[in-house]
Amino acid sequence: MKTFKVAGLSLLLGLSWGCGTNGEEPANIESDVAVVLTENCESCHGDPPQAGALMPIENCDDVLAAAPTNSDITVLEAIGDRINDEDNPMPPAPDDPLDGQPLNTLNDWVEAGAPECE
Ligand code: HEC
Repeated sequence: MKTFKVAGLSLLLGLSWGCGTNGEEPANIESDVAVVLTENCESCHGDPPQAGALMPIENCDDVLAAAPTNSDITVLEAIGDRINDEDNPMPPAPDDPLDGQPLNTLNDWVEAGAPECE
């Protein structure tokens, strides 16, 4: 019974972004941003990444790491490039590119330099 309770608690923490850690994934990205990432990116950019994606985008450590194809920039900067890249957008086709509020939310966050991750 005790084991069951502990397992349930870590499951809950694992599912909720932005409120503490579960010891494995520091879920420390600002919550509006985390929602956009979860809805639009996490199916491929989870940990481990899926479908040929090169890196996870799940927490501040992931975001501040060097971009896998360009170590001169961070994953955060690469996100800013690709969500606005009309020829090669993220999420990739056949998904619709981001627009409206989700795009603005990520752009503001990239521009601010993911302040919660400093
Ligand atoms: C359907 C799977 C899929 C989804 C959804 C997806 N990606 Fe990707 N992503 C990929 C793949 C595959 C690559 C590697 C090929 C490429 O760069 O196009 C990639 C590459 C990237 C890169 C470039 C990394 C580098 O170093 O070149 C960034 C940044 C990125 N994705 C961000 C995002 C963001 C932000 C979202 C959500 C808004 C997202 N992706 C959604 C599959 C996905």
